[in-house]
Amino acid sequence: MSITSWVKRDQRVVWHGFTQMSCYDTSTPVIVDTGEGNYLIDVEGNRYLDAISSLWVMTIGHNDPDLNQAAKDQLQKISHSTLLGNGNVAPIELAEALAPQVPVPDPHFLFASDGAAAVEQAIKIAFQYWHNLGVTTRDTYLTLDEAYHGDTVGSLSVGAGGFGTSLFDPLRFPVIRTPGYNIENWAEQAVKAVEENHKRLAAVVLEPLVQGAAGMFVCDPPDVSQVVAAAQEFDIPVVCDEVATGFGRTGTLFASEQCGIAPDIMSLGKGITGGYAPLSATAAAPHIYETFLGPDLGERTFYHGHSYSGNALACAIARRHLQLLEERDILSNVHSAAAALASALEPIESHFAVKDVRRRGLMAGVELNPPPGAERWGRRVCANATKRGVLLRPIGDVVIIVAPLSVTAGEVEVIGQTLLAAIDAVAGQ
Ligand SMILES: Cc1ncc(COP(=O)(O)O)c(C=O)c1O
Repeated sequence: MSITSWVKRDQRVVWHGFTQMSCYDTSTPVIVDTGEGNYLIDVEGNRYLDAISSLWVMTIGHNDPDLNQAAKDQLQKISHSTLLGNGNVAPIELAEALAPQVPVPDPHFLFASDGAAAVEQAIKIAFQYWHNLGVTTRDTYLTLDEAYHGDTVGSLSVGAGGFGTSLFDPLRFPVIRTPGYNIENWAEQAVKAVEENHKRLAAVVLEPLVQGAAGMFVCDPPDVSQVVAAAQEFDIPVVCDEVATGFGRTGTLFASEQCGIAPDIMSLGKGITGGYAPLSATAAAPHIYETFLGPDLGERTFYHGHSYSGNALACAIARRHLQLLEERDILSNVHSAAAALASALEPIESHFAVKDVRRRGLMAGVELNPPPGAERWGRRVCANATKRGVLLRPIGDVVIIVAPLSVTAGEVEVIGQTLLAAIDAVAGQ
């Protein structure tokens, strides 16, 4: 069946997120049939280099034989059983494997399915933590401008808006917000806000090193450590949202490592299963977790949970994924591929139609510089690159690259050359 027929069927019954469905059929969507390593293959057999890692989730390639085997093995046992009040071998084993790897010391993991839910859990845990201590006046959070933490109402509230979500402003709870990583002295301003509001703050919430959905705004590790130190000096829990930066994307397993910080609470998602299955987790340090201990059915219990929390199939894949990152020495590839990406983006940096190029590890944003009146450059450049076989997706006029951790130097070169050709085509050169 042709792509056109699939698009018609798709549009008739599927509602795509962040997508205007009225013109979905004319926006040349890719209809994926299969995946192979770093490539997606559509229903007509066309291949696309997945340069956004399927919205930043895929890590070591699609259709990986070892991850497939882990999934098959788990399916022979059980796919899911509830973690509400009972356990399951797969999430226990995953939590044991993750515990020594995350920067939260001696953590307990509360599992969920999406990044937004992992953030939602984190901010609710921070809120209840203070109540558990008998403090009921901590009713707000310090969060950053340009932040993105997901689309549930809580995660939307700690996030900064944009993407047409201002409609939901009346639903957002108020927070204290200081500038994002695009403002030079953001850290100083955050520290000042912590000092001024330390009695009111339930937590400080940030994305260490990279504000991804903002369009890849990046900062320096000491700035993050400075803000974290200020909060922790006042015993304010720091929530690190590593949904996007986690699992190797910035060059270390977690971005917090580069900042030398130990968050009190941490949100994980996206790459946790290598892009195989929806799984997320909120990790909490002992001084947080232990305040939740008390009598059965008592008020210290965390009354929050999801049906698919700790899904065994996803957890088994995630555990094998963690092993494979090590067995295949994936972080070494990230280092060399990140250097190759920096070189590949050099000719783009000096292009007249490009305003800025920002990058940490394999996450990059190429901000276009459309002339007045030019419309949808980001969309048009990405559509052009996709036609040339490199799948890209913009955020506004920023072309986002989130390369697979398994990307080769040759593939990185292809991404750079294709993007350059697409920019030339749209900018008219
Ligand atoms: C830093 C960060 N937090 C949370 C989320 C939300 O994750 P999900 O889309 O899985 O709900 C995202 C998604 O891009 C993210 O970048």
